[in-house]
Amino acid sequence: MTTLKTKCLGIEFENPFLLASAPPTALVQSIDKAFEMGWGGAVLKTITPDSLDMYDLSPRYGVQKLGTKITGLLNIELLSHKSVKYWCDGIDYLKQKHPKKVVIASIMAPVEEKKWKDLVETLNKTSVDAYELNFSCPHGMPEQGIGMAIGTSPEISSRITTWVKQVARCPVFVKLSPNVTNIVTISKAVEEAGADGLAAINTVQGFMGLDIDTLDPCLNVDGSSTYGGLSGKLVKPIGLRCVSQLRANSHLPILGMGGISTWKDAVEYIALGANVVQICTEVMISGYGIIDELKSGLISYLESKSWNSIEDIHNRAVSKIKAHEDLNRSYKVYPTIDKSKCIACGKCQKICSESEYEALSLENRVISVDLSKCEGCSLCSHICPREAIVMKQVNQ
Ligand SMILES: Cc1cc2nc3c(=O)[nH]c(=O)nc-3n(C[C@H](O)[C@H](O)[C@H](O)COP(=O)(O)O)c2cc1C
Repeated sequence: MTTLKTKCLGIEFENPFLLASAPPTALVQSIDKAFEMGWGGAVLKTITPDSLDMYDLSPRYGVQKLGTKITGLLNIELLSHKSVKYWCDGIDYLKQKHPKKVVIASIMAPVEEKKWKDLVETLNKTSVDAYELNFSCPHGMPEQGIGMAIGTSPEISSRITTWVKQVARCPVFVKLSPNVTNIVTISKAVEEAGADGLAAINTVQGFMGLDIDTLDPCLNVDGSSTYGGLSGKLVKPIGLRCVSQLRANSHLPILGMGGISTWKDAVEYIALGANVVQICTEVMISGYGIIDELKSGLISYLESKSWNSIEDIHNRAVSKIKAHEDLNRSYKVYPTIDKSKCIACGKCQKICSESEYEALSLENRVISVDLSKCEGCSLCSHICPREAIVMKQVNQ
């Protein structure tokens, strides 16, 4: 029997799709609805001590579009506006009503032992399944010495993980930032400090851009703007890279996220090392209802492969990711032109000649390849508007 059930650190997941800590998990009643609709779990919008003020700005989103489709979301939102009591009551309500759904409390506090421990000890009294330490919010919080200011310092990350582990009564995941030179430096520090699992990625720091008529920022807060966190499809390659690097260096369970919008994206994350996945931006764009397609698509995929569960995907592609120097230098592919699709527009020939190789020529409306000049870079196949160029291996 094919199943979407999976387990890690003793936590049973009904399916591997969790809502990431973000607006879709900012209210108990909406999480309740998401659980009814089939989500396997939710990471709550980051909870902070009540003493920490959250002043959110308007507007706080900018988008990157391809035609009418949103490919990237840039936000400058802060953390949960709700009190610790609201979340304690909410966690117990959710767990009582949906005992099989996983509820993870995302938390952040100033870099003071008592503040972190008080928050965890209060949440320990609820039925929460795990903690996710938010060491990675890239805006608003770093200015106060927290969020990404924690997650860019191995020393502070390690210190806080140790404090939390001393009191936490359930597994502790650490959510890492992609905005570091080497994510493994931070993951090693928190692993040594006792973290039970890792979560990656939080948003990628960016700037939304300018309106070139006025030179005002696109994400315009009364004429000014700031750097924000980019999420959605655009960041998937960064998320996959981070999860792959984490898996190559650690056996800890990983909650993978960043740009997941379909079940296929989830397969990639799981094959590269994620145990389960989280989704935020696609839910903000399309709603909780995407869960039906995520689950049915993944089940059909497993069945088509005659696999029983996502354990059969987990880590399956890990050994295929190598250092540049370890890749086969004698492997070569060359373009083959499908004449039934080629419209002789000349784009491939122009780009090839302007990008180093001059290996393609266009004569009498026929594209030909000079194999002595072609290095098999594959650029022509990607820019062809008709997908008329297929790269094939040529035995040398
Ligand atoms: C508007 C918005 C608010 C977010 N708030 C939080 C937060 O409170 N805590 C947190 O750990 N991550 C937060 N995130 C980051 C997401 O949980 C997630 O790590 C990131 O968006 C990448 O996943 P995605 O591409 O599926 O959105 C937020 C993201 C967005 C877009």
